[in-house]
Amino acid sequence: MFNLILFGPPGSGKGTQSSNIVSTFQLQHISTGDLLRDEVSRQTPLGVEARKYMDQGLLVPDEVVIGMISSKIDETPNARGFIFDGFPRTKAQAEALDKLLEFKNTQIHLLLSLQVPEEELTRRMLGRAATSGRSDDNEEVITKRIKEYHAKTAPVENYYDQFGKVERIKGDGTIDDTFKLLGKEIEKYLLPA
Ligand code: AP5
Repeated sequence: MFNLILFGPPGSGKGTQSSNIVSTFQLQHISTGDLLRDEVSRQTPLGVEARKYMDQGLLVPDEVVIGMISSKIDETPNARGFIFDGFPRTKAQAEALDKLLEFKNTQIHLLLSLQVPEEELTRRMLGRAATSGRSDDNEEVITKRIKEYHAKTAPVENYYDQFGKVERIKGDGTIDDTFKLLGKEIEKYLLPA
């Protein structure tokens, strides 16, 4: 089993590159953003609660997200591995994930961190706003999401760095160029399926 965290600020390309990685390496994709948006659109109690945070560009409380991830991992016991997109986003989430994986006799093998300048992040998300239908793709909330990333999420990279699991990837080239760089790192662990 090979488990990967695709890491980076809002708009850095985690979702886009996750699709490419899934097609090539057949990993199971878990995106907490997608899971939360699904709960919001179905207006479940969890979704109603989560929306209050998401619309303000704030992180949803750890216990909510950790519970969702735990059941998602259990759904695919025979996965070749997982790609975590948008999770973990706090040190508490990282520690919880490590425990969950340890319980399944596995671990995080690699964190790939997408490096994209802030002006480019904003440009991409504003460009997407017209078509995404995402209530958090507007200038005011984008600014808060990036701020929240620096305050709470960036330390997750340091957490995995202490175990030598982090590779930083230039993420401001084309989608194809970035995927080539990501694929090269993944192939050190896993061949395309
Ligand atoms: P989430 O859904 O995870 O959003 P995000 O991290 O803000 O990231 P995005 O989905 O906006 O960007 P991305 O990096 O996936 O980039 P994408 O590929 O889409 O989280 C949303 C909210 O949910 C959070 O704010 C929080 O409230 C909550 N949440 C989620 N997970 C949580 C957690 N673990 N804990 C607590 N709360 C949580 O690309 C962006 C755009 O750029 C697209 O239009 C794409 O086509 C374009 N693009 C991509 N790559 C390139 C490229 N190389 N060149 C040009 N354009 C590109």
